[in-house]
Amino acid sequence: MKEMLLSSTGQDAKTVAIKAAREAGAILRQHFYRKRKIETKGNRNLVTEADLLSEKCILNILQEEFPGHSILCEESGKHDTESQYRWIIDPLDGTTNYAFGIGHFCVSIALMEGNDILMGILYDPLKEELFEAQAGQGAYLNDSPISVASLRNLNTIVIGFDLGYSDTASKEILVRANALWNPNITFRLMGSGALGIGYVACGRTDLYFHRSLYPWDIAAAILLVREAGGEVTDWEDNPATIRSSEIIACGDFSAYKSLISALK
Ligand code: IPD
Ligand code: CA
Ligand code: CA
Repeated sequence: MKEMLLSSTGQDAKTVAIKAAREAGAILRQHFYRKRKIETKGNRNLVTEADLLSEKCILNILQEEFPGHSILCEESGKHDTESQYRWIIDPLDGTTNYAFGIGHFCVSIALMEGNDILMGILYDPLKEELFEAQAGQGAYLNDSPISVASLRNLNTIVIGFDLGYSDTASKEILVRANALWNPNITFRLMGSGALGIGYVACGRTDLYFHRSLYPWDIAAAILLVREAGGEVTDWEDNPATIRSSEIIACGDFSAYKSLISALK
């Protein structure tokens, strides 16, 4: 990564991002085992005290290390500067899982230069799994290279999806899942879009889809899938950007062509 991406204390951006993800993850882990303070942002859309503490922790670290950079956070919104570098933060992806004591959630941190995603980190603090990718340098899980699944010689395809907070999009997703239904498919409702896409990157699932996502849900995970040899598209087959609310992530679009047509 470029020289100019050294922080005010001389650390590279990846080192800083991993430190922020691990510290925020430790906060999530501690609060997960206590009585959780939960509030409602909208229909089914929750926020916990831990979301806010995690975000504050990440924001403090990034603003200290990279004071010139812009930051977009799920909870506190835009912290804009003139910089072409922008961090995209989801301090807790999977808040509903978290709020109900279901141990599947993560921290997501991405760094962008203009419209290019330079780096993506997901950290699952309960499983202590750190997913990490830098553009052009591959994808890793706890320092081991990962790649998307090749067509399995099994009569089972694992497809992850999630519903989101829009009633219309959620009902539509269930219609699409129903359209795909066949004896070889096993569905998983993940409860964390970022991990849902990240699991395609490491070959745990074959495909993931969603129809109402936000930049902080997907910025890091899109890069992970691409660096692991797969692709993430929008519903019109264009490569997904962080502004694509509807996405399909897959290890091998040509192998799953008919399935993806059925999904649409
Ligand atoms: C949500 C999760 C969920 C997905 C929602 C997201 P949050 O993020 O990723 O799985 O279905 O669309 O907004 O609110 O837990 O950060
Ligand atoms: Ca999220
Ligand atoms: Ca969140």
